[in-house]
Amino acid sequence: MALLKQDSHGCPYLILAPMEGVGDASFRKAMASIGGFDEAVTEFLRVPMNAHIPSLSKHYNAQELGSLPLAVQLMGSDPLLMALMAREMERKGAHRIDINCGCPSNTVTGKGAGSSLLKDPNFLYQVAESVVKAVKTPVTIKMRSGYEDISLFKENLLAAQESGVAFITLHPRTKVDGYGPPARWDLIAEAKSILKIPLVGNGDILNVNDALRMLKETSCDALMIGRGSIINPFVFQQIRAHFSKTDYVVDPEKLETYFTAFISKMPPDMTPRGKLGKIKQLMSFFFKGSPELLAKRQEVLASKHETMESLLAYTLPVLKNALRHLLA
Ligand SMILES: Cc1cc2nc3c(=O)[nH]c(=O)nc-3n(C[C@H](O)[C@H](O)[C@H](O)COP(=O)(O)O)c2cc1C
Repeated sequence: MALLKQDSHGCPYLILAPMEGVGDASFRKAMASIGGFDEAVTEFLRVPMNAHIPSLSKHYNAQELGSLPLAVQLMGSDPLLMALMAREMERKGAHRIDINCGCPSNTVTGKGAGSSLLKDPNFLYQVAESVVKAVKTPVTIKMRSGYEDISLFKENLLAAQESGVAFITLHPRTKVDGYGPPARWDLIAEAKSILKIPLVGNGDILNVNDALRMLKETSCDALMIGRGSIINPFVFQQIRAHFSKTDYVVDPEKLETYFTAFISKMPPDMTPRGKLGKIKQLMSFFFKGSPELLAKRQEVLASKHETMESLLAYTLPVLKNALRHLLA
């Protein structure tokens, strides 16, 4: 793997963030239809205490996005099971295995995984080291800045580094913060000054200016974008174009490809109602992209449709027009 390699124009390595519930295979496929990012990461794959590795591993397909790498994220707290799962993921072709040290969900943290690992740097080290030792594939950690506060921030970073991970992605909010206060980019800068291994900056990048500002303010080595890419699926291409000094022209027609790709990966056994709900969920993020789009939110989300086809036939022209208006 070209680990966090810049492109030939100096654009930093761009990663599509893991987003459980929203950023599933359908979303990744849709994003890949627009492109611009170097790799994606799966939503967390839970590795519970009673994990049955073969059944769990069915959920990961390294070739899901064709030639675009798809890292797998594991969330668990049993060092041995995490190691076994990592080995299985390696066997399935994962090019990178990421350990979740950030999920704030109580159903998860109750079992000592996710952001709970940030309560005890020694334990975080044990889990990460066990995974690192089990595989040849690069292992990485994605973490928040702390659990309740940032008192163990430095210790957690150093524990992660000592464990042998290849790089760290930092989302600089504590577990208790949730998504409330702004991400503390100053902590990304601080982490960068502490660590010898590369650091991926993450949190609140919505557009090209945010991306440039994060790079400048933190000196991080690469960028990860989550919600900003649901709101504006063109954001990676726009960042890349900035570095190559070309104009990336947002083509409203691409929305059709985007939503078609999204639908193509929906689970075949999902009910029509479930599918409608999913597509409306994606659209509701999209509306946040601009006042012009937001003005159409009620109209589209309240419209009554029995099938996805009719929802799309009605919605796409509305969205394309709003986007055209925005670009005019
Ligand atoms: C709906 C949702 C689901 C998420 N699921 C995961 C996850 O499975 N694993 C993870 O490490 N982070 C997860 N995150 C956190 C994001 O990867 C990212 O760190 C966070 O949203 C901040 O980046 P952003 O401002 O670019 O969205 C999730 C975030 C959201 C909004």
